[in-house]
Amino acid sequence: MVDLTGKLTVVTGGASGIGRATVLKMAAAGAVVFTGDMDEAGNTETAEMARAAGGSATAVTLDISDRASVAAFAATATDDGAKTVDIIVNVAGWDRIQPFLDATPEFMDKILDINLKGPMNVVKAFLPDMVAANAGKIVSISSDAGRVGSMGETIYAGAKGGVIAFTKSLARETARHKINVNCVCPGPTNTPLLMSQPESMREKLARAVPFRRIGEPEEIADAVLFFASNMSDYVTGQVLSVSGGLTMAD
Ligand SMILES: NC(=O)c1ccc[n+]([C@@H]2O[C@H](COP(=O)([O-])OP(=O)(O)OC[C@H]3O[C@@H](n4cnc5c(N)ncnc54)[C@H](O)[C@@H]3O)[C@@H](O)[C@H]2O)c1
Repeated sequence: MVDLTGKLTVVTGGASGIGRATVLKMAAAGAVVFTGDMDEAGNTETAEMARAAGGSATAVTLDISDRASVAAFAATATDDGAKTVDIIVNVAGWDRIQPFLDATPEFMDKILDINLKGPMNVVKAFLPDMVAANAGKIVSISSDAGRVGSMGETIYAGAKGGVIAFTKSLARETARHKINVNCVCPGPTNTPLLMSQPESMREKLARAVPFRRIGEPEEIADAVLFFASNMSDYVTGQVLSVSGGLTMAD
């Protein structure tokens, strides 16, 4: 059983899907969780669910693509700098499937702002204190799209591939401060993001998975918990696909 007792933790994208499962599992493991999401109602519900199960969770409205919003999130989670966050989990993300040729410049910017610059904004807000503390765990949700590509998700895949490269480089920069930086790549996972795609596409995806099913958000959260805990103290700069064997990238 992973023990995160008292660990001050920020999770983005906690209102739904993988983020919600992550908040619930981390709070159940004893973490003191601040969940940030644009979806205020969903985020509040997640925090209530975590507290009803006996955990500690606070919902904060957050747009990771807006640096002022990220700064306000950081101020709330750290009690205006009085506390240092132990664990950052970047989950928030967004995509819409369409051919690259149809993408407008605005769409391109939005995808990059949320999926690539968003996690960078969040890490930038909390990292100086982690460095000063010589401790910390950073876990980002990328995607198998970022490892092997994905039809109709070209810009998103570029952003998620960027998250992988960001993870590895940051891991090198922060290892001397005993900070672990890793990322988890879900394959197709049973969340509102995937459910918004056509059923035919979801069936095709499930057939392509060696385990012949799509993943559950809790299965992704389990990998996050490993990277967030002391069980991964000697692991950094790594990428773990949790995708039923769909991708077996080096
Ligand atoms: N579901 C999948 O099949 C799948 C596969 C690979 C990777 N992922 C990644 O997993 C992560 C979680 O996805 P999910 O499937 O749980 O999706 P989801 O849509 O259920 O949840 C994503 C959450 O992120 C929030 N969000 C979006 N933009 C935001 C912003 N700018 N600021 C703050 N919050 C924002 C949304 O409000 C939502 O609550 C994402 O990074 C996604 O790219 C998902």
